[in-house]
This record gives sequence, structure tokens and C-alpha cells, in this order.
Amino acid sequence: MSAGQQLPMAGPWITEHEERVVLDALRNGWYGKNAYYYCELFEAEFAKYHDRAFGLMTPNCTTALHLLLAGLGIGPGDEVIVPDCTWVGSSACITYQRATTVFADIDPHHWCITPQALERAITPRTKAVIVVDLYGNMPDWDGLLEVARKHNILVIEDAAEALGSKYKGVRAGKFGVASTFSFHRTKTITTGEGGMLLIDDASLYERCKFLRDHGRKPGTYYNYEVTFKYMPFNLQAALGYAQFQRIDELVGKKRWIWNCYRERLSDIPDIALNPEPPNTVNGVWCTAVVFGKSHNMTRDKAMHELSEYGMPSRPFFYPLSSLPAYGSRGETYQDINPVAYDVSARGINLSCALNLTEAQIDAQCDALKRILRR
Ligand SMILES: Cc1ncc(COP(=O)(O)O)c(C=O)c1O
Repeated sequence: MSAGQQLPMAGPWITEHEERVVLDALRNGWYGKNAYYYCELFEAEFAKYHDRAFGLMTPNCTTALHLLLAGLGIGPGDEVIVPDCTWVGSSACITYQRATTVFADIDPHHWCITPQALERAITPRTKAVIVVDLYGNMPDWDGLLEVARKHNILVIEDAAEALGSKYKGVRAGKFGVASTFSFHRTKTITTGEGGMLLIDDASLYERCKFLRDHGRKPGTYYNYEVTFKYMPFNLQAALGYAQFQRIDELVGKKRWIWNCYRERLSDIPDIALNPEPPNTVNGVWCTAVVFGKSHNMTRDKAMHELSEYGMPSRPFFYPLSSLPAYGSRGETYQDINPVAYDVSARGINLSCALNLTEAQIDAQCDALKRILRR
């Protein structure tokens, strides 16, 4: 096996601090009020950091979005707009609620949904848009919020990939009626599996909290509705809280990785990495590269050729409308969302593991340069 094959695609950075906090939960977090101690602490601190009133930890981000849509009463007959390029975890909640998924196009530079695409996708049945901060990139939030206000639709922020990002001084996670985060093992802070729903409105928070635990009032065994069981537990929350206490270090490492890629690839013309336009900060969950057309390089060709050098990579998000899960409607949707199809066909993700070394980044960049000069 070459050194490259051992190079990880993604993964966390765990220290003795996390070990100590998790051990505390393991030893002491079972009886009385300590049973949910770290869940409540993590929820409160994470919400405060994002200038939100309330946090609800969930088993993952997919369930956080589902809980929110249910809490908002979105259901059959309603349309919800999502960007065509994102992970299916952003959109699955719409199907869970038996609402209709509407795919909108993305921007060629920041790869998020645009205000123009949002406006084009709105119909009288549109209830909400799920805006995704893709790869940590910030969309045109002012423009999106303006369109949503004009058409009276709810804005939901899927900030799963945007921990540490900012738009005009406002943290990702503060936009719209509510936002969600993922603590999947590949994310900037991890609980293995885990997620968070952040909300400002007290009644929406109470409704989502009720829906999260079998439709009962906390502390009672009396159920008012049949709902979900999307509860978190102390052990995962302890890991999340300990990681959260190191947020600057973890986001700093992600930005360091992105800067290393930028420096080493700066002599290659006509490629685009995650942008950071003025007035934004990019938390860069993962560095993605989109090859300019002059390279004649596709996503699939690049991944194949990088693997010949033993280098890991992942595809840029496929347009959801092209996937079997959504009826393989690529032929129709490449005209409706041309940017999503175009960018996705030319993009890959580079390794974003938090234990990456400079030598490993050098090796990936060397391989990338070789395949582009072939
Ligand atoms: C943009 C986006 N939304 C949602 C999700 C779903 O997160 P989870 O795996 O925690 O359910 C992910 C995770 O990979 C994601 O990247």
C-alpha cells in the first residue's frame, strides 16, 4: 500500500480533553439531573454562540431538519425548495413529511442557491426554502431573505457544513426561522452521529421539543400525540460539548488546510476552490475544486486518475434531480438547473481530515498537478 492509500478523506481531531469530558459523562451522567446534563449544556452554549435563543440536539442533522419541518406543520400539498446540489440529508425531510421537493439552481462561484433561482422556483404552494451553506460557502443571504420576505415563505438554514462561517459579521446558523448542524464523524466538530436544531421562536421550540420525545410533556409518561423519538444522549453530547470548547482550534485547522491547498495550487490557472468574498468568513468544512473548462477534466476522470496515485477524493455533490432517489430526471433538469449540472460534473472534494499533515497536502497537490498536466 502506498502512503497515499493511507491518506484519510475525512475524520475528527480528538484530544485528551474530549476523553476527560466523555469519561465524566460515562462515570457520572446516569442518575438524577446528570442524565441529560451535557445535552442541556451543549444545547444552551451552542445556541448562545450562534445568537439563537434555543438549541435542540438530535440524532443527526437529517432528523433535526425533519423535526423542524414537522414542527412548522409542513406536509402534503406543500412545496419546499432546496438547491439541486447538496447532500440528500438536506432534502430527505421533505419526502418524510410527504411534501413536494422542488430543486433550484446554484451559483457558479459560491455553489449555493441564488435569489434568482429561488424566485423562479416559487409557486403559490411554496411554504419554505432550505438554503444550504455548501462546503462552508456563504450564499447571498441578503438577496435570499429579500425574495423570501417578498413571497412570504419560510427560510430554513442547513448549516451542516458551515460551522465557523460568517456573512457580514453574522454567524452561519443565525439565518431564517431556524438552522441545523451536523456532527457526523466527518464534520468539523463531531459526536460520531449527531445534529443540532437552533430556533429563536419560543413556541416553535416548545413544539419541536415535544415532537422530539414521543409527544409527551417532559417528565411525564402521558402521550398527547404519536411523534418521533429523536432524543440525544449525554455521552454524545459530552463529546460534542468538549469539541465545541475547541471550536476555534478546529475551524482554524480547516482554514489552514484550505489555505495550504490554495497556496500549493495557486500556479494552476482556471480552477476554483471554496471562495471567501469580502464580508464573509468561510469555515471550509471541506475544500472542493472545480476545474475550469480549459482543463477538459471531469469529476469522474479526476477521481479515477487521483486514485491511480493513491489519493482520496469524493465527487462534488451530484444534482439531486439526477439521482435514482428522485427519479433520475437529469435530462429534464439539466435545462432547468444548468449551473448545478455543469459545476457538479467538473468538481471534486479533496481530503478534509482534521489530522492532515503538510506532507499529505503536498502529496495530494502534486498528484492533482500531475493529472492536470497529463
Ligand atoms: C449539507 C448537509 N445537510 C445535511 C446533512 C445531514 O447530516 P447528518 O449526516 O448529520 O444527518 C449533511 C451531512 O452530511 C450535509 O452535508
